[in-house]
Amino acid sequence: MEVLRTVDDMQVHADGARQEGQSLALVPTLGALHEGHLALVRTALEEADHVTVSVFVNPTQFGPDEDYDDYPRDLEGDKEKLKALGVDALFAPPVEEMYPYADDESRQLSGPLAWVGVDRLDETLCGAYRDDHFRGVTTVVTKLFHACKPDIGVFGKKDAQQYVILKHLVEDLLFDIDIVGGATVREADGLAQSSRNAYLDDAEREQATVLYEAVTAAREAVEGGEQDAQAVVRAMDTALATAPDAEVEYAEVVDAHTLQPIDHLAPGEEVLAAVAVYFGDTRLIDNAFVQVPTA
Ligand code: PAF
Repeated sequence: MEVLRTVDDMQVHADGARQEGQSLALVPTLGALHEGHLALVRTALEEADHVTVSVFVNPTQFGPDEDYDDYPRDLEGDKEKLKALGVDALFAPPVEEMYPYADDESRQLSGPLAWVGVDRLDETLCGAYRDDHFRGVTTVVTKLFHACKPDIGVFGKKDAQQYVILKHLVEDLLFDIDIVGGATVREADGLAQSSRNAYLDDAEREQATVLYEAVTAAREAVEGGEQDAQAVVRAMDTALATAPDAEVEYAEVVDAHTLQPIDHLAPGEEVLAAVAVYFGDTRLIDNAFVQVPTA
């Protein structure tokens, strides 16, 4: 496995693979890889000849009060896991490589000058609570796409809003890249795998299954014929209320393509039931994409 630290080296490497006629996949990650990430890598290995995984804790998608400094980092451990799976390249640029003058005080800059963003899609769900988070994601993913030049990008559907936004990004801005979504990988009790689960104490970890129970309740309500979005939200709220330490940020049902709120679930449409919950300082999310039955 090649370990590449600069955009130039990554581009030369990707050009080489492409000249050999290989199809290329990129799996962007923040690192601290767990089974959820490795499942995405396995999907990429099935879908393309050459797989790059990027490990980059992207500062522009963390708010000032968020866990950028404390976010788990384990590049050596990540390397071993990726080598064992047969990944071709690991792209792990330092921050200055991705944002060369982001902290250049002499030029009075405290961030990039060019951004990539979406409209409306980032105003609901997590976007309503995490200012500029998705602008940071769409900007860094665009840069990673230019560095790694993939045919496909593989992203977890656990980050449902990110997944939907990136699908619109490549479509609206004519990137010649397909976004492939990987199913959420769960612990035996249903908790979605996340690097942030490591922050939970025992009592919080036990209660954290309510996120899965809430989105499962939403799925069952919709599949059972419920067409009133508020009734689906009530089913989620009831599940979440069983965890005494859960601070619910949101529990919502939105259109799965526009991410806009809906009142009525139209037969044949796809909806997204999504929750964000704090346990102490730890923020967890989960979701379910559900097809509204036609009869
Ligand atoms: O989902 C993530 O891990 C990040 O948001 C991503 C896509 C790697 C961009 O930094």
